[in-house]
Amino acid sequence: MLLRPRLLRSPNRRGKPRSRRWTSCLPQWHNDWSGSPQRFGSDRCRSWSAWSCRSWCCVGSSELLANLQGLLVAGHDTSVNQLANMFVTLFRHPDQLQLLRDAPSLAGRAVEELMRYTKLVSSAQPRVTTEPVELAGVRLPQDAPVVPVLNATNRDPSVYPQPERLDLTRDAPPHVGFGHGPHFCLGAQLARLELRTALATTVKRFPHLRLAVDPDTLTYDTGSVLRSLTALPVELQKD
Ligand code: HEM
Repeated sequence: MLLRPRLLRSPNRRGKPRSRRWTSCLPQWHNDWSGSPQRFGSDRCRSWSAWSCRSWCCVGSSELLANLQGLLVAGHDTSVNQLANMFVTLFRHPDQLQLLRDAPSLAGRAVEELMRYTKLVSSAQPRVTTEPVELAGVRLPQDAPVVPVLNATNRDPSVYPQPERLDLTRDAPPHVGFGHGPHFCLGAQLARLELRTALATTVKRFPHLRLAVDPDTLTYDTGSVLRSLTALPVELQKD
């Protein structure tokens, strides 16, 4: 809603216009920058090719692009979509939305509870066991793939009393919405700041914000690994 990326139009295989994610423009962007930096003129643009050659000398252009694309998707689409998902959760729990309206300073805590409660990705990156291990009563050999299901973990009744209840004032152990361990989300603190600021600012600025459609009619992008709404129609002001 607030941070939706600019979508570019291009024809799909059937010749119909479709939206193309801005990240797919990266290869062209890189070529333009490194090929003729003078076209852009700014120091930042000129240093792009120098930086990519000096710091990434052992990394090929396609690997550099793959990394940048990964960072941009991981760092942008996540926050944008999770913010929209969080608002849907709040619209479905008007008492909790009211709580936040009454006390926007609750936003920090609200982000943690909404991260626990609201699904963005089903699982963290798959792991592989380094030795035989027993997990929740299941014996796994060495080298077995394990897919950590974040949502199930976040609703573990042995950790969170009444896990199906959204409670913005909940004082709970940390959730695993940003993963866990050495691959814990690199941008978790940035995402927290973005979400906290967006939630608090939106409810303060638009105290009558509400969903403009039946929540059961909302649709999701089935081609995305993220739980990504196709649109979130809202009314900002009272009629
Ligand atoms: C609401 C926003 C976000 C959510 C829910 C989220 C969630 C996650 C999750 C679940 C993982 C996998 C962790 C694991 O496998 O244990 C991850 C990894 C990662 N995230 Fe995020 N993320 C968000 C925002 C961001 C932002 C803003 C950035 C960068 C600015 C970012 C960069 C990354 C990177 C680079 C990794 C891979 C870390 C690694 O493999 O070592 N994420 N994120």
